[in-house]
Amino acid sequence: MIPDSFIQELLGRVDIVDVVERYVPLRKAGANFSACCPFHNEKSPSFTVSPTKQFYHCFGCGAHGSAISFLMQHAGIGFIDAVEELASSVGLTVPQEESRKFAQAKRAEAAPLTELMAQAARFYQQQLKTAPEAIDYLKQRGLTGEIAKHYGIGYAPPGWQALAEVFSDYNLAELETCGLVIRNEAGRRYDRFRERIMFPILDQRSNVIGFGGRVLGAGEPKYLNSPETPLFEKGRELYGLPQARQAIRDAGFVLVVEGYMDVVGLAQAGVQNVVATLGTAATTSNVQRLLKTTHRVVFCFDRDAAGDRAAWKAMDVSLEYLADDKTVEILQMSGNQDPDEFIREHGRDAFLREVQGATRLSEFLVRELVRQSNPNSAEGRAQLVHLAKPLLQKVAAPVLRVQLTREIAQRAQMAQAEVEAQCNLQPLVRTRYAPQATRQRPRPTSVEYKLLQLIAPRPEWAARLPLDLIDGETAEGAALLEIIDLVTHGRLVAGGYGMLLEAMRGTPHEGIIAGLAEALAGTSDNAEAESVEAVFNDAVAHLQHALIAQEIEQLTARARTGLSAEERARLALLLARKQGRSVLGGGIGG
Ligand code: UTP
Ligand code: MN
Repeated sequence: MIPDSFIQELLGRVDIVDVVERYVPLRKAGANFSACCPFHNEKSPSFTVSPTKQFYHCFGCGAHGSAISFLMQHAGIGFIDAVEELASSVGLTVPQEESRKFAQAKRAEAAPLTELMAQAARFYQQQLKTAPEAIDYLKQRGLTGEIAKHYGIGYAPPGWQALAEVFSDYNLAELETCGLVIRNEAGRRYDRFRERIMFPILDQRSNVIGFGGRVLGAGEPKYLNSPETPLFEKGRELYGLPQARQAIRDAGFVLVVEGYMDVVGLAQAGVQNVVATLGTAATTSNVQRLLKTTHRVVFCFDRDAAGDRAAWKAMDVSLEYLADDKTVEILQMSGNQDPDEFIREHGRDAFLREVQGATRLSEFLVRELVRQSNPNSAEGRAQLVHLAKPLLQKVAAPVLRVQLTREIAQRAQMAQAEVEAQCNLQPLVRTRYAPQATRQRPRPTSVEYKLLQLIAPRPEWAARLPLDLIDGETAEGAALLEIIDLVTHGRLVAGGYGMLLEAMRGTPHEGIIAGLAEALAGTSDNAEAESVEAVFNDAVAHLQHALIAQEIEQLTARARTGLSAEERARLALLLARKQGRSVLGGGIGG
């Protein structure tokens, strides 16, 4: 989806040392930088970052890659997210032609429905102005006109077909499609929302995609919501997100509450960085979206059995999206109040103090597991590890997982490594370069492999390789040919091994290129710079020599049956060349 040329440009602009340093303190070690590996637990540094080759490698766990894969591994995010994050850090925008076209087409398709929803929302807002009982209700709940307007709150009047006033064709099929009108079995149509306070639900672009409607006072159901429609998928949406965006940026975190009234009630009291799930437990899509928006998400739940279940669920869906710099916290409201009731009674400052006291997800996890397993006995401790297993396996943030594992190990009275083994925790190297199944065994003695090693830190050198000398039948040769092709067509530019890794991402050659990482991390840049030119030329010469030898062999084999004059001249020439050339033995480049 993202053009290769953009990846090349991006990697040309960023310096992997800067990128890694944002997360891991680096120490200069010769030409490279080193640190304790962020991807596995270690005491002495075996993680190196090469500024000239623009890649990182860990001699301990084998993690390696470009600036892009570092972000992917470290933040536990996908390729596109990593590219986007990297791009925004250097002020580039990711071109996304195809996906943008697709989104536009989808929008065009939804446009008539969105327009109907917008018309209905405007109607409900107008109706509120002339409905004293609705205004009284909102006032009694502490809301001012200002907040009602900020959230576009309205009122659906009584009457079965009030919307007929808005839509000249009340029988329009789309009114049913977008959930505003219901048709009963007798075929009669009527408004879904009647005599209710209306909370419009907006999408990211602030289009109205659904409504929640509350009865005035008592009545069942308390809230009526839009059904799932082509516009509205309630597990994906969050009430109040567009209205909260600025406040989330200002505050640096987002609060997630359970109800519409909690959102508007908190906003009324001056806490506007708040959104609500839509009558469902938090979903993975909610968590993903929120963690993209901000670095800290605080879920607020009532302190009752339902609230505890919801808190557990929120933890469960959050674990895999946590990054070492992105936190999720759980706030279980003290007392028997929801956030709206709490802030009305105790005020903003008291509420924000509650928020400050929210429990980190890791702490919540350990606390809940300990409560469920009671590790005062051997059985309880075994149970603790058993319960922790599926949760630890979800954690993709490397440092956090180490912390959690350590804590579980302490409570279980086990060594950390034992817990890791019991829980079957794989090293957190989610590299896509070298999937075990497709990793090709390189032939380290072949001249093509030597050449690959030589050009990997400087792929642009591939332009100097004579195409016709390379045996494309071997894995190394095929990779070399691919690199030469990319370089000569300007699709792979200077930028080191990191750049090469990215260029090979998703190609059949990525395994063999990834296989070079360890050897490359082991060669010092300086030593290499001195001899590399000579070695490179020798390798090319060796290839030429091999080709000459091959041709001589063919000609001499046929000499018995007689050669043409031309062929005899050619053989003589080849033999003379062979004599005159410094012939390399097997060992090129050591
Ligand atoms: P609550 O019952 O906690 O409502 O439901 P609330 O937000 O505190 O509302 P008030 O203060 O009594 O007015 C929380 C959320 O659950 C969904 C709604 O999304 C609501 O905001 N819900 C609740 C429904 O969809 N239908 C219902 O009948 C009740
Ligand atoms: Mn409430």
